[in-house]
Amino acid sequence: MTDHAIAAVILAAGKGTRMKSRLPKVLHPIGGRPMLHHLLDTLDRLNVARRVLVVGAEGDRVAASVADRDIAVVRQEPQEGTAHAVAMALPALTDFSGDVLVVYGDTPLLKGETLAALVAARRAESDGAAPGIALLGFRPADPGDYGRLVLDEGGRLERIVEAREASAAERAIGLCNSGVMVFDGALLPRLIERIGNDNAKGEYYLTDAVAIAREMGRRTVVVEASEDEVLGVNSRADLARAEAIFQRRMRVAAMASGVTLTAPETVFFSHDTVLGRDVTVAPHVVFGPGVEVAEGAVIGAFSHLEGARVEAGASVGPFARLRPGAVVGEGAKVGNFVEVKNAVLGASAKASHLSYLGDATIGAGANIGAGTITCNYDGFLKSRTEIGEGAFIGSNSALVAPVRIGAGAIVGAGSAIAKDVPDDALALTRSKQVTREGWAAAFRARRAKEKAARGKKE
Ligand code: UD1
Ligand code: MG
Repeated sequence: MTDHAIAAVILAAGKGTRMKSRLPKVLHPIGGRPMLHHLLDTLDRLNVARRVLVVGAEGDRVAASVADRDIAVVRQEPQEGTAHAVAMALPALTDFSGDVLVVYGDTPLLKGETLAALVAARRAESDGAAPGIALLGFRPADPGDYGRLVLDEGGRLERIVEAREASAAERAIGLCNSGVMVFDGALLPRLIERIGNDNAKGEYYLTDAVAIAREMGRRTVVVEASEDEVLGVNSRADLARAEAIFQRRMRVAAMASGVTLTAPETVFFSHDTVLGRDVTVAPHVVFGPGVEVAEGAVIGAFSHLEGARVEAGASVGPFARLRPGAVVGEGAKVGNFVEVKNAVLGASAKASHLSYLGDATIGAGANIGAGTITCNYDGFLKSRTEIGEGAFIGSNSALVAPVRIGAGAIVGAGSAIAKDVPDDALALTRSKQVTREGWAAAFRARRAKEKAARGKKE
C-alpha cells in the first residue's frame, strides 16, 4: 500500500555568501515578504503533514520567523552540503512514513500545482514499481551554476553533475536541477547514508542521491518546470529577477480579477495587495504592504500606498502618499501632493491638494483646503485632530493638535487653529488686512526716480 502522507524538508542553513548580506538569504523579501515564507505558504496549499526546516548556526532569526507555524526546526552546524542538511532533518522524521519532499529555501517562486504534479510522478507506478525519486528539472536560458541532469540512452535520468565538476560536454547540457525532489521516504535514509563528499567542494551533495538510487535498482524521473518557477536566488541579481517574476504574476492576477492597469509593468505590488473589481490603477503606482482598495476606486499615477484602505469609488492621487492607518472613505478624494497617515477621511470628504493629514479623523463631506497641515507632533508626543462632518478648512491652515473642528464649521484661509471650534462656527486667526489706495503706484514712481538719480552719479 502507498502511504499518501507528505513531509517537507526545507533547506535554509546555507550561509548565502553570494548575497553579501547580514540578513540570512531566505529572509530577503520578495513582494515585501521573506522568500522562505512564500515557499511555506505554497507548502500550505499542498497537503503536507509534517514540515522540517534546517537552519544554520546563525539561524535564530530564520527560526524566529517561523515560530508561529507548525514547523520543526533543526540545526545544521557546520554546513557540509545539501545531503548533510537532509541528514540533520531525518531524526525529526523517524516516525514518519510517506513521501519526503525536499525544497531549497532559496527557491521561492514554486507553484503548488507543480509540487503536486511532482508528488504524483513519484507515486506513479510503471512495470509495477514507483520511482525512488521524482525531481523537478528545467531548461534555463543560461544554465550557469545549476547542476546538470545527465540522461542515459533511453532518456532516463542517470545522475546529476554539479556545474563545477562537469566536463565541457556535461556543461553543455541544457536540462538542469531545480533542487526540488520527492523521495520515497523509506529509501531516503539509505540514500543519504551512502552519499560521500569526494568532490570539488568536499561537501555532501544531495544531487548524488540520483546515481545511488539507480545503483540500488530504483528508477528516477524528471518533471519539467518553467525557469521562472524554479529560479534559485543566490545573489542580489537573482533576487531582483525573482522580484520581477513575482511582480509579473501579481499584475496578471490583478487584471484577471477585473482590475484595470493602464501600464501594468510600472505598477508594483506587495504580496498582500487586495484590489477590488473595476479598480483602475494608473501608471507608476507602488503598493507597500497592507493595502486594500475597494471596488471602483481610482489610484492616480505616481502614488505610493502602504497600510492603507481605500473605500469604494474613492479617488487617490496622482502623486498621493497614503501611509499606515490611512483610510479614504467611500467616494472620498485625496489629491496631488497629499500625505495621509493614521487618518480617516469620511465618505465624500476631500483633500484635493498639498496637505499633510496625520492622526486625524475627518468627517463625511468635509473639505480640506490646499496646504492644510495637521500639526500632530510637538517634538515629544503625537496628538489628534478631529474635523466634523461637512466642515470647511480654508487653504493654508495649520490645525494644532489636539484640536477639534466642529461639524459644519468654517476655518478661514491661512489660520493657525489651536483651540476647539464649535459646530457651525467661523474661526480665523488672520491679522487684520491693511489696504492703502494708490500706494503701490506711488511707491514704484518714487523708487524708479531714486534709481535713475543713482545711475547718473555712477
Ligand atoms: C543547488 C544544487 C544544484 C541546483 C541548485 C538549484 C546541490 C549540491 N546543488 O546548488 O544542483 O541546480 O541548487 O538552485 O544540491 N543548504 C543547507 N545546508 C548546506 C548547504 C546548503 O541547508 O550545507 C541550503 C541552502 O541554504 C539553500 C539550499 O540548501 O537554501 C541550496 O544551497 P545552495 O548553496 O544555494 O546550492 P546551489 O549552489 O544553488
Ligand atoms: Mg542556491
